[in-house]
Amino acid sequence: MKTVLITGIGRGIGQALSSRFLKEGWSVLGTYLNTPVPANEPSLKTFELDLSSEESIGACAEAIKAAGTKIDALINNGGILVDDEETRLIPDKLRKTLDVNVIGTASFTEKILPFMAAGGHIVFLSSQAGSLGEMDRLEDSHYPYHYPAYKISKCALNMYVRTLAARMKHEGFDLTVSAVHPGWIRTDMGGDEAPTPPQEAAADIFALVTSRPPTGQFWYKGKKFPW
Ligand SMILES: NC(=O)c1ccc[n+]([C@@H]2O[C@H](COP(=O)([O-])OP(=O)(O)OC[C@H]3O[C@@H](n4cnc5c(N)ncnc54)[C@H](OP(=O)(O)O)[C@@H]3O)[C@@H](O)[C@H]2O)c1
Repeated sequence: MKTVLITGIGRGIGQALSSRFLKEGWSVLGTYLNTPVPANEPSLKTFELDLSSEESIGACAEAIKAAGTKIDALINNGGILVDDEETRLIPDKLRKTLDVNVIGTASFTEKILPFMAAGGHIVFLSSQAGSLGEMDRLEDSHYPYHYPAYKISKCALNMYVRTLAARMKHEGFDLTVSAVHPGWIRTDMGGDEAPTPPQEAAADIFALVTSRPPTGQFWYKGKKFPW
């Protein structure tokens, strides 16, 4: 049985991912912060994780190590958008966003790396919002200056994806590293007007995880997306 570790499975895309992998016969290790998950499935184990706290990241990685399973896929899904209504940069919001979306996510990934199985896949939930190419394409709209902290965080996360993929290749690790844009998804973050249900994003991400695409790429619906 293959094992996937997914951050933030209590709601939204993470919840849909967890259900999808369980349905496909995978064992799921899932984390939560404020949305506890009923552990009513024999193939599901849950762990508390706060990506804004190094202490919590360390404790969660230790608990996962103690579970003693090699991890075939890590999906870094947990993330925050706290400047949704802003067009100006608010330093405290940027700090908070970088803490979770970049620093905590990278720190957690580094701690999980030793438990990854050969041939494994690490996927990061990035966003169109972090794409410099999309900034050029949409420069005449309001899009390029809305929610700057979130945009900056996903752009920085993308560079972590690239550096990690290059490092794994250089060090001879048999690991694929990918960024993915899920689309505009109907969740607490995406809002009620978003056109796509989280199950659709989960299906695309499941297909990505279980394929062996070239490492260090940014994906959207199975196609390369501009960095
Ligand atoms: N929705 C979209 O349209 C969209 C578009 C592009 C990219 N994305 C990305 O996709 C991912 C999932 O988004 P979503 O729409 O499902 O978001 P969501 O509905 O707001 O859910 C966010 C998830 O992140 C977890 N989380 C938040 N802060 C955390 C922290 N400090 N430590 C650990 N976990 C934390 C939450 O856990 P608790 O509930 O347990 O607190 C929750 O499971 C995010 O990385 C987001 O940036 C979403």
